[in-house]
Amino acid sequence: GRYALILAGGSGTRLWPLSRTLLPKQLLDLGEGETLLQSTALRVCESFAPDHVFVITNEEHRFEVRTQLQAVLPDAGTRVLAEPMGKNTLPAIMLGLEPIVAADPKAVVGVFPADHRIRDHASLQAAMDRAAALAGEGWFVTFGIPPHAPETGYGYIHRGEPLGQGAHKVAGFTEKPDLPTAEKLVAGGEHFWNSGMFVFRADVFLAAVAAHAPEIYAWWEGRDDSPLTAGYAGLPDISVDYGVVEKMDNIAMVEAPFDWDDLGSWEALYRLGKKDGTGCVTKGQVLALDCSDSLFFSQGSSLAVAGVKDMIVIQTRDATLVCPVSEAQRVKDVVGRLKSQG
Ligand code: GDD
Ligand code: MG
Repeated sequence: GRYALILAGGSGTRLWPLSRTLLPKQLLDLGEGETLLQSTALRVCESFAPDHVFVITNEEHRFEVRTQLQAVLPDAGTRVLAEPMGKNTLPAIMLGLEPIVAADPKAVVGVFPADHRIRDHASLQAAMDRAAALAGEGWFVTFGIPPHAPETGYGYIHRGEPLGQGAHKVAGFTEKPDLPTAEKLVAGGEHFWNSGMFVFRADVFLAAVAAHAPEIYAWWEGRDDSPLTAGYAGLPDISVDYGVVEKMDNIAMVEAPFDWDDLGSWEALYRLGKKDGTGCVTKGQVLALDCSDSLFFSQGSSLAVAGVKDMIVIQTRDATLVCPVSEAQRVKDVVGRLKSQG
């Protein structure tokens, strides 16, 4: 059968001060009335039977994840799996595969990050059906997003020979290039952003893990003797992209006909937000006088701004961020500095 794994771990510092270790991006409501995790779960349930949808999160977020899921899918709580600690996406996917492989060793499995926004559900479902068909034939399927900027935070897929019906073989894979490389890839027109969603047959994926990540596979093989969570602490921290996908050769790409955003920064939220007549996006209790082209977000308390242009102002109960829209990526530096100060 068909199964889905939603990845809802990750630490979430890119939307500081709204996202924190205790409340990462996927657990936040970015002003839409539901959290990214909730909208992801509802979206995935349009293509997968709800009782075939598993969610993998960190032990420290298990309760919040269950509560959020149960608010939208009443019996979802039983399929929330918790890792003892974050070890990145490859170990997390393996943990999620355990109950699925027990039910069906040749299951077609879709993996979905919990923190993306996709609005065109009809095209997503069509692409998902194409991907599931290819996965059934033994392809490891990725979704390629036509790039609109030389983003360095994404993986890039090099489109190869056509496989028909909107799909291609993948000629190569470049995970998180530097800026000059990203600029070249985008200008060439043959590279697509990797959406981070994958569809594969469980047995095909496990064979690739055995070949390319033997240490992880040995841990998986030992699950008859001790539970997977028992050996978790000793695993290397490794993403599915670096650990397996980059090294496989039977990869296909379905070109995404749907909109997609990773919402990885305040700049992205500003770009995608609903702008008023002055080009401002405001959320919460905000009074903006003679401002333009800015993002204002206030949680709980009131925020007043006057004569401000091209700025991001984010106010939460106990922290405030102010920076120009063009410097939104510097939140990384802010968080790094705060962490080193303890
Ligand atoms: N359960 C669990 N445990 N989930 C995790 C963990 C973990 O240890 N680490 C990350 N995740 C979840 C994140 O919450 C997110 O939903 C998803 O897995 C992807 O992890 P990210 O850390 O956000 O990856 P990325 O954004 O750097 O890169 C990936 O996504 C890009 C698109 O957004 C790659 O696949 C890139 O190639 C891709 O372009
Ligand atoms: Mg991400």
